[in-house]
Amino acid sequence: MEHFTLARVIHIVAVVLWIGGVSMVTTVIIPAVKKMKSKEDQLKTFEQIEGRFALQAKITTVLTGLSGFYMLYVLDAWDRYLDYRYWWIHAMTLVWILFTLVLFILEPFVLYKLFRKYGEKDPAKTFRIMHRAHWILLLLSLITTAGAVAGSHGWFWV
Ligand code: HEM
Repeated sequence: MEHFTLARVIHIVAVVLWIGGVSMVTTVIIPAVKKMKSKEDQLKTFEQIEGRFALQAKITTVLTGLSGFYMLYVLDAWDRYLDYRYWWIHAMTLVWILFTLVLFILEPFVLYKLFRKYGEKDPAKTFRIMHRAHWILLLLSLITTAGAVAGSHGWFWV
């Protein structure tokens, strides 16, 4: 049982660091960068800040996934994937897959090049699209977090 509780502790500390960082980037950093006067400053500042956060996000995403799947294994709760009342288990898995794709595949192989190309051409539009994408991921993560806390403490709506 202690192992299970330890996994839950790791899960939540990793989620706090990860989603808290996404919130900071979305609500503070991107708006501040958008207001900068020179295009060069905008691109450089954003690359430096998000680059550092990307490493943290990679580590916390891996920890969240490992601890999450470990809890499912200990609970032997794989059949929750077949029950719509456990929509928050699906939501957690979906958020995790989305971030894993973005951080480990899309960003290094696709998004970085796109950001360089379109950031030079039309920074205002590039930051607008990126800001929107961050908002969508943040809202999805917050709904998931709320649903997971409520659900794992026995609050089911249906
Ligand atoms: C592959 C990814 C994930 C898996 C397999 C997973 C699995 C789990 C499991 C099995 C639990 C315990 C449920 C219970 O006690 O009945 C849990 C709790 C939780 N998870 Fe996840 N999770 C994953 C990703 C995420 C993500 C991405 C978030 C946040 C955006 C998240 C947030 C939470 C929260 C807030 C709890 C509730 C802890 C509590 O109140 O005690 N998880 N997760």
